[in-house]
Amino acid sequence: MYTKEVMDHFSNPRNVGEMPDADGIGTEGNPVCGDVMKLFIKVTDNKIVDAKFQTFGCGAAIAVSSMVTEMVKGKTLDEALSISKETVANALGGLPPQKMHCSNLGADALRKAIEDYKNKQQK
Ligand code: FES
Repeated sequence: MYTKEVMDHFSNPRNVGEMPDADGIGTEGNPVCGDVMKLFIKVTDNKIVDAKFQTFGCGAAIAVSSMVTEMVKGKTLDEALSISKETVANALGGLPPQKMHCSNLGADALRKAIEDYKNKQQK
């Protein structure tokens, strides 16, 4: 029921771990199931140069997290903000309907990490 891409990112997730010198951190919980994702970004000249994640969640959430961290690298903050749960799910070749809520985590944690970065810049 999962695509090849989902299975690949679930079995071999990219960018797992903490980023001690992150410029922005976003944490998002999924109200549907209680799973949690934490996303770290490193920003240089308005571009996301690195991203990492820690996800306590289902296989789809892990695949989504891995895909989001791959998608944002090299993007400007505005480009990254245009990544939606649909974009992520499409990049994974689709998610089963009952797992679509899992893709919220990635896009929402990313948005929060960017907000966190922008707030820190204003201080
Ligand atoms: Fe919780 Fe997928 S079941 S994020």
